[in-house]
Amino acid sequence: MEFNHIPVLLNETIEGLAVRENGIYVDGTAGGGGHSAEILRRLKSGRLISIDQDPDAIQTLTERFKKNENSIIIKGNFADMKELLAQRGLYRVDGVLLDIGVSSHQLDTPERGFSFHEDAPLDMRMSRKGTTAAELVNTLPFEELRRILFEYGEEKYAGSIAKGILAAREQKPIETTLQLAEIVKANVPQRVRRDGHPARKTFQAIRIAVNDELGVLRRGLEGAFELLGSGGRLAVITFHSLEDRLVKQQMAAWCQGCTCPKDFPVCVCGNKPKAKLVHKKPVCANETELTINPRARSAKLRICEKL
Ligand SMILES: C[S@@+](CC[C@H](N)C(=O)[O-])C[C@H]1O[C@@H](n2cnc3c(N)ncnc32)[C@H](O)[C@@H]1O
Repeated sequence: MEFNHIPVLLNETIEGLAVRENGIYVDGTAGGGGHSAEILRRLKSGRLISIDQDPDAIQTLTERFKKNENSIIIKGNFADMKELLAQRGLYRVDGVLLDIGVSSHQLDTPERGFSFHEDAPLDMRMSRKGTTAAELVNTLPFEELRRILFEYGEEKYAGSIAKGILAAREQKPIETTLQLAEIVKANVPQRVRRDGHPARKTFQAIRIAVNDELGVLRRGLEGAFELLGSGGRLAVITFHSLEDRLVKQQMAAWCQGCTCPKDFPVCVCGNKPKAKLVHKKPVCANETELTINPRARSAKLRICEKL
């Protein structure tokens, strides 16, 4: 299978993970295996567990790493990482990578229903299991739809788009990507229609809801941190502000020590930091990478080390 995806922030991520040749690593979002391949290249007796929930990715990874004895491939959700590893007798790891979001392969395969450029069934399920985008937009009540568009898409016109969706589905079910894109277009002001594609934020929001992307990220971060041994590193690449905020706040919470008020003469809380940041600021793609891969523009990499 052709799997087109250029790995983002590749060198920065692999260097940041400080891969040791005998270490155990998890790539929780292995996709086409771009980051996994670089980790595997650095292993001698170590292991890499590559996880993805998408059957297309699993097929690609299985083919790509079939001759590599250090590679273990698991189809599943990284939110269940601890359980997936425990089933294989693995309870401690030296590094975890999460490269959040959809792959270019998923975006560029029209029948997966992620793209507002091509007509296809409104699907958007990375795992190809569970509730589809069509089921959501045809059944959610107005207020829930509005909230999803506003919170996950940061869509200013969430209310009028949600209203448009409800009106349209009363006429006939919304079943395809272009049907939804047209409804969005008809329910935002003219000037928004000229400023990029007006359905971009709606599609992002629905995709996040279909795949519960924020919920699984929260569980994934917790699971990954519990699995890490002392000195182990967690590297997370995100592509929009909601996810980045979540990662930033979670890492800050692990890194925080004493939480006593500043005017307390001695610490009474006894809290000790559980981690330290590898970089103070998130790492972003440089100009060279951006010319090769414009999709890296919004990528942010944050890494912390467990103490
Ligand atoms: C941005 S791509 C990763 C690309 C990969 N780093 C590479 O170099 O090819 C994200 C991948 O993570 C997968 N994914 C997203 N959320 C997931 C989750 N909760 N559990 C497992 N896989 C997930 C997607 O199916 C997709 O293949």
